Parts: sequence; structure tokens; C-alpha cells
Amino acid sequence: MSTMPQPPKREGGTPITKRLTPRDIQARKGAAPIVCITAHSAPMAGFMDPHVDLLLVGDSLGMMVYGMDTTVGVSLDIMIAHGKAVMRGSSKACVIVDLPFGSYQASPVDAFKAAARVMSEVGCAGVKLEGGTVMAPTVEYLVSRGVPVMGHIGLTPQSVNVLGGFRVQGKSSAEARALVADVKALSDAGAFSIVVEGTVEPVAREITKASTAPTIGIGASAGCDGQVIVAEDILGLYSAFMPKFAKRYAHLGDDVSKAVASYAADVRARRFPGPENTYGAAPATPRKKSKKR
Ligand code: KIV
Repeated sequence: MSTMPQPPKREGGTPITKRLTPRDIQARKGAAPIVCITAHSAPMAGFMDPHVDLLLVGDSLGMMVYGMDTTVGVSLDIMIAHGKAVMRGSSKACVIVDLPFGSYQASPVDAFKAAARVMSEVGCAGVKLEGGTVMAPTVEYLVSRGVPVMGHIGLTPQSVNVLGGFRVQGKSSAEARALVADVKALSDAGAFSIVVEGTVEPVAREITKASTAPTIGIGASAGCDGQVIVAEDILGLYSAFMPKFAKRYAHLGDDVSKAVASYAADVRARRFPGPENTYGAAPATPRKKSKKR
């Protein structure tokens, strides 16, 4: 018999699973590293959920799923559809959904309207938005109205057209000072955690020290309180570009290619479907018995 503690059950036997909350994540500052990964679909969320603290429905899905060049073209409806899928596929992780470009930058009121749609339609725990000091009043506005917010500073992909490409931030002392000011502004505004993307290790460590909220790094060294990664980058499912900071833990793209090549070869050679894949398959033609003499 299993000695593992069993989750409590509802009447009728359905287990009650308690998801991690933004408060649980915030309380992990300076404790065990926080593990976050992007998810866009229900089956993938199901595979990842037991292993991570946070599932981020990131707008990188514009590139990973929809073949866009940047995240700028992703819409709120797309984020909501994928957010719902990730909620359906998971039960334990804290699910956060990105607010896409154009849905929150113009004003705190716009941001609240977009966040309220995400929170009520998806049922997730909070939203993420990009930007430092300039977005702090918006973060405060959302948090004080019941929306947990994850910040995102450093390399902010929605600003790629201003940044002039996906380049490492904080290399000059002026940029580093600005990043420290950004993290302080966001943590003071009530962000429960802050993604720090694409910066050098000493700056990441300084940012993490300056922030009361846990920092979640991507391409920002081990000096952060946790790590986030784009799933496709570690699973070998995105071949257009491999960032230096990602590590390949699997080669699923190669596996897909090999599997589909084998399937195609089997169909062409009439090896698939076989009798075991066929409903009401005609019995194999019996061999003619040799006549008894
Ligand atoms: O959209 C995304 O996947 C993200 C991560 C890079 C943090 O924002």
C-alpha cells in the first residue's frame, strides 16, 4: 500500500488540488529557487505541471506557435484562448498570462480592462506585463484593484522595435542603474515577482538584491531567485534560433521529424494501418491445407 500522503477528496471522490498562489511565490524570495516554464497548450501543461511552480502563458507563443517574427502581433483573444487551455491541463502550478502588446501600455484603465478579461475568462492567478519604472503606476493600479502582477524588465521583447533587436541589457553602468531603479519601482508598486530577461550576471545579482519581490531570470544568470525558460528552447522544438542561455534537455523536433518520416514510409508501403489498427479487420486469408491422402 502507498504511504504517500494523498490529496484531500471532494464528496464524490474528485481530489481537491490547491494551486500555488502569487503569495506563495512571493514568500519564496531568498528561499528555494522558483521554477517557471512557458506553456501554451493543455497537454503540455499537463506534462509540466507536476514539476514546476509557475506556468507562464507567454506571448512568445507568437513565435513558438504562430510563426511570427516577434511578439508584437499577438492579441488578447489569442492569450485568453491559450490561457484557458493551460488552466484545463494543469492543477497545481500558479498560472500567469502575459498581457500582449497594445493591451495595457496606453493607460492603467486599459491595463485593468485587459487584465480583468484575462482573470475572469481564463481563471488564472495573475498577469505579466513588460516595462520598469514607466509601468510602476499601472502595476500599483492593478494590484490595488485585485490583479496580481508579475513584472518583466531588461530585454522586453514587446519593445524590440525600440531596443533595436533582442540584445543583452545593462552592459553600461547607466543601463545597469536604470534596471535597478526599474526593479525597485516594480517591487514597491506591489509586483509579486519580476522576470529579468537578458542581462549580465553582476547586474542580475544587484537587481535581485534591490528587489523585495523574487526575480525570475531568463538569460540573466543564476543570480536570480528563480528561472523561467521558453519550453520550446529546452525541448528542441524551435529551430529558428537557439539562445546562448538555453540548454537542450530533449530533441523533440528531431523525434517528430523521424516519427512522421516513418509514418509516411509505412503508409506508402501499405504497412500502416495494420490489422491491429483496423476496426473489423478481415481475418488473414487462411493458408490452404494440404490434402490428406
Ligand atoms: O513570452 C514569454 O515567453 C516570456 C518569457 C520569455 C519570460 O515573457
